[in-house]
Amino acid sequence: MSAKIIDGKVLAEEVKQMAALAVQTLQQQHGITPCLAVLLVGDDPASQVYVRGKENDCAACGIASRVYRLPAQTTQAELLARLADLAADDTVHGILVQLPLPRHIAPDAVINAIPPEKDVDGFTPVSAGRLLRGEPCFVPCTPAGCLRMIEAAGVCAEGKHAVVVGRSNIVGKPAALLLLRHNATVTVCHSRTPDLAAVCRTADILIAAVGKAGLITGDMVKPGAVVIDVGINRGADGKLHGDVDFESVSAVASYITPVPGGVGLMTRAMLMLNTVQAAAAKTGCDLGFSVKNPVRF
Ligand code: GUN
Repeated sequence: MSAKIIDGKVLAEEVKQMAALAVQTLQQQHGITPCLAVLLVGDDPASQVYVRGKENDCAACGIASRVYRLPAQTTQAELLARLADLAADDTVHGILVQLPLPRHIAPDAVINAIPPEKDVDGFTPVSAGRLLRGEPCFVPCTPAGCLRMIEAAGVCAEGKHAVVVGRSNIVGKPAALLLLRHNATVTVCHSRTPDLAAVCRTADILIAAVGKAGLITGDMVKPGAVVIDVGINRGADGKLHGDVDFESVSAVASYITPVPGGVGLMTRAMLMLNTVQAAAAKTGCDLGFSVKNPVRF
């Protein structure tokens, strides 16, 4: 079998077009331009690239962006003070603090300072609790993007066995919860899972989100499985590599996402959708997606 590629570039453009249309509606009917505030502390090169990407996406969708590039020595108290200002600012609809933060700043303290109604990353305990309980919420952008890609492949998760490799709060756990909402039977694997390969081989849908280049190889994949690669690992060759060994897995899977050009672009696009939702929620305007139902956009 030679897997079909689920093209993140095409799908992300579709999602951003949806966001751009929603921005027009909000502007024309409510006089509101959605605004995303992004805080970047320090000079991590990868984070700088990600934040620039977010700025570009905002511009492409007609979303206003305010990017605060703060020095690495910024104290936690200073960051919290900045967040308090943004939390109180009615013209700011979404707030995102780029992770990772410098070691002297506790990420949980910072995330907890984001009001749930502006939590477009879906990282706060309130958002996580709502997702767990199946309530409307901001869904973390990467898992939301993964589900979107599975749907775009025409695959219905209901009744399928989905295996998520990785248990982070940002990707693995919320991806598992979303798959559960879609009525998949879900297994979450992690570094202490014995015989990872055997578990992966039982997956109809396999999501790899561990940050280890090439971890998932063709012999670990069930023929015909849908494989979603969340990994973005910079190799010694300077190139980006996924958690999935593309060559061997694409010979076995039915669908596969590439790296680059896969989930990463969807993550950015979903952030745009969450931001317009945050703005729309203030108006009571129903955009017809995700505010009411966070799974089917
Ligand atoms: N760093 C890497 N991915 C993300 C993300 O999705 N959100 C934030 N805030 N930081 C990140």
